[in-house]
Amino acid sequence: MKRIAVLVSGGGTNLQALIDAERRGEIPNGTIAAVIASKPGVYALERAAAAGIPGEVMARRDYENSQAYTIALRDRLQALHIDLVVLAGFMIILTSELTDAYPNAIVNVHPALIPSFCGPGFYGLRVHEAALAYGVKVSGATVHFVSPDCDAGPVIAQKAVPVLEGDTPETLQRRIMEQAEWILLPRAVALFCQDRLQVEGRIVHILDESGRRTDL
Ligand code: GAR
Repeated sequence: MKRIAVLVSGGGTNLQALIDAERRGEIPNGTIAAVIASKPGVYALERAAAAGIPGEVMARRDYENSQAYTIALRDRLQALHIDLVVLAGFMIILTSELTDAYPNAIVNVHPALIPSFCGPGFYGLRVHEAALAYGVKVSGATVHFVSPDCDAGPVIAQKAVPVLEGDTPETLQRRIMEQAEWILLPRAVALFCQDRLQVEGRIVHILDESGRRTDL
């Protein structure tokens, strides 16, 4: 059984999608063992408590810089014997100490089709504001492994979602969550826990149950 930690900074709807998937038996070889929030009072912690998952706060503001924060986080994850780290709406940029400790074992969900609308400054509603301002007709979500560069690690799964006339950042965000993020993230986590993600350079191959390469 792989032990999963979910890192959150806000509402936690992606955390909820993972909790629901685990409850439905869709993450057979994984268990959400911890939820860690980057600030106190976020609703994601209530979701964790309601599901009986231990939740804790490691507030970014209690640390001098990103590196000190990342090192403390790494030490905590290792103390909890975590195998997979999931960034689910985690709004803090981490330094290489975490990716060194968890190579190809940190997964992030980003609310756009990487390499569009990603990188430093593109998070939460800002991503959707940028997509609408650009005038793209499709956007979507990407689940990827985390590498030291922001939003640049190997892509695991992507799904396109239409941008519709009259969309606001909020309506586009909701459609992308419903049609892409809440589906892709639990699937990617399940595949990781079944050792069905094979990374070759920056290419991620998905394996079927007999170990043959397949599509999602
Ligand atoms: C989600 O849309 C997630 O993709 C995005 O923040 C939202 C968090 O929602 N993440 C980023 O922008 C990371 N760069 P949630 O707290 O309800 O899961």
